[in-house]
Amino acid sequence: MSEQNQVLEPLKWRYATKRFDATKKITKGDWQTLEQVINFAPTSYGLQAFKAILVENPDLRKKLRTCSFNQSQVEDASHFVVLAAATKVTEKDIDLYMERISQVRGTPASVLTDFRKVMVGDLVNSRTDSEVKIWAAKQTYIVMGMLLMAAAELSIDACPMEGIEPAKYDEILGLAGSGFSTVSAVALGYRHAEDIFGKMKKVRKSRDELFVSL
Ligand SMILES: Cc1cc2nc3c(=O)[nH]c(=O)nc-3n(C[C@H](O)[C@H](O)[C@H](O)COP(=O)(O)O)c2cc1C
Repeated sequence: MSEQNQVLEPLKWRYATKRFDATKKITKGDWQTLEQVINFAPTSYGLQAFKAILVENPDLRKKLRTCSFNQSQVEDASHFVVLAAATKVTEKDIDLYMERISQVRGTPASVLTDFRKVMVGDLVNSRTDSEVKIWAAKQTYIVMGMLLMAAAELSIDACPMEGIEPAKYDEILGLAGSGFSTVSAVALGYRHAEDIFGKMKKVRKSRDELFVSL
């Protein structure tokens, strides 16, 4: 297969899976790979101001389904990940990040002083909590996109989900006071043979409608 097709084939194969085969489970090895993909996603300043919450408990999944417009993916997918964005960034969060950089790269703290100052000035002193939340929430969509792409490369089906009630998710997942709040979810697993959406053609704009050359 050409390199171009190696990129395109998984994208043609994937679709937002509506019906999962609840009997098919993602292997441990594949799941560990997808966790790494989530961790490798780029984030603003590299701060990773989000949590990926893997909901394994069937009772919790059942409850979440009731505030997801009853979408069956929530219960039937092998893995169900809720993406939650930070609702606040503190100086402590930034200091922990600086310490990690120093540990991993051996960078002296003195070299990081200016970087730290910029981050504190921007995230702690210039943005309101609701602006921080929007900033962090946007980045979870990069995580979502990379996760969908990587899953497709592993022939794992997925459904990105915004058809959820974030405030109710927060309540069910006990996120109040955690500093994180639900943005979206991704259901992952294997398509049910009878999912009619799996056989439908992709609906996309033409190249001319989508691209502008200047
Ligand atoms: C941010 C986002 C939220 C979505 N929310 C849902 C959802 O709650 N339920 C669902 O079945 N599909 C959901 N979708 C899937 C889209 O409807 C789907 O990606 C789009 O129609 C294109 O089809 P395809 O992904 O099958 O190619 C969502 C997609 C994105 C990117």
